[in-house]
Amino acid sequence: MSQASAWEQILDYSNRANPYPFYAELRKTPVTRLPDGTYVVSGYAEIASLLHDPRVSSDITLNPAAAAAGATGDDGEGPGMSPTFLSMDPPDHDKFRRIAMRHFGPPTTPGRVAGMEPRMTEIATELIDNMAGRTRIDVVDDLAYPLPVTVICELLGVPPGDEQRFRIWIDMALQSTDPGLDPETQQKKRAEAGKELRSLMEDLVEDHRQAPGNDLLSAMATDDGPEGRMSAEQLVGTGLLLLIAGHETTVNLIANGALTLLRHPHELQRLRNDPGLAIPMVEELLRYEPPVHFVPFRTALDDIEIAGTTIPAGSSFTLLLAAGNRDPAHVPNPELFIPDRPNNQHLGFGGGIHLCFGAPLARLEAQIALTEFANRLENPRLVTDPPPYRPSPFLRGPSHLQVDIDGVAEAAKTVRSKGDI
Ligand code: HEM
Repeated sequence: MSQASAWEQILDYSNRANPYPFYAELRKTPVTRLPDGTYVVSGYAEIASLLHDPRVSSDITLNPAAAAAGATGDDGEGPGMSPTFLSMDPPDHDKFRRIAMRHFGPPTTPGRVAGMEPRMTEIATELIDNMAGRTRIDVVDDLAYPLPVTVICELLGVPPGDEQRFRIWIDMALQSTDPGLDPETQQKKRAEAGKELRSLMEDLVEDHRQAPGNDLLSAMATDDGPEGRMSAEQLVGTGLLLLIAGHETTVNLIANGALTLLRHPHELQRLRNDPGLAIPMVEELLRYEPPVHFVPFRTALDDIEIAGTTIPAGSSFTLLLAAGNRDPAHVPNPELFIPDRPNNQHLGFGGGIHLCFGAPLARLEAQIALTEFANRLENPRLVTDPPPYRPSPFLRGPSHLQVDIDGVAEAAKTVRSKGDI
């Protein structure tokens, strides 16, 4: 199989349940040039190196492939969307990331994520309580989706009534990335969703500026730190970035995690016996079945020589994180799910200056959700394997995950050892 057709197979929806053989094919040439002149990078060492290379830009306005795909609008970002630090380079990236991080994590706000742990457990408990009396559940609809969505909305300060309104347009924005759609339809969907999302977030930012609460959006909207306040446009963009990232990634981590555990009953039993295993297990899931399979639209700012290939200045390339995660040159027996494997330096959260901002939140949510799943659902069995998948090849996860159960154990049975977290 040629490298180009391996890439086509990866994008093909019929391979969504198991793209891994095609990743292995691509890794034979870790830096591959595709017929359209873009590059795909699939080896662990090469991806890790490019993630840390200052000659690599995330600025989507510089990227020829993004422009060809209609992913950049006249305003430079996706049509109707506001620019965010995800697609900026230093120094702007660092400045806006710092302003947002100041209210999200250490050293200034160390308690924001950790302080939500009891609430996360409460939400997960309630969601599982709601499964009582049923013989069949859908892990996506009943747990993996509502938990992270409720958490990110509460953290940001999105009122419960607004969540549904955002959800419709976030779904449409994501549909617009489906490679099965023609570019015109993709662009139309993206523009429409972007406009609506922007308008919803503008209203929300204004409300929080007028009447700040104890939430992340209020904190960013009223920040008077050394960099000065974010512009209204920046706030809208950052609010949307956090909301969308919080909606769409952790969902896949929890659903991929439940699926993997049901396929590895021995590991499911080990988690029941030892809740502390949730920590390395979630790291192994981020390697073995990561929610984000690749990051597209990186641009070489200079000629970059790597793995015997030169990526010419101005070229676009994609970093295939999920292929790097299973590179046998980096990790022994990469096709095996081994929750307590040592030195698991996975690429699930990317790396370098764009390393995932929400990683501590996502980790905690998945640890809680999977521990509850393991401890409370009695005799869970997969209804279909593989399950149906969502369309996206890069935000990859099941659209539904039906599981038959014999019952739901009392919440009191679940004991999470504080010392293990
Ligand atoms: C399991 C869940 C998650 C996964 C697998 C994930 C994965 C990633 C990856 C791979 C990147 C790097 C993108 C790049 O290099 O272009 C990233 C960046 C980012 N993530 Fe996450 N993410 C997750 C959850 C979250 C959550 C819950 C939030 C929000 C609270 C979040 C916010 C962000 C932001 C803001 C960035 C951009 C960081 C920057 O450019 O400096 N993520 N994420």
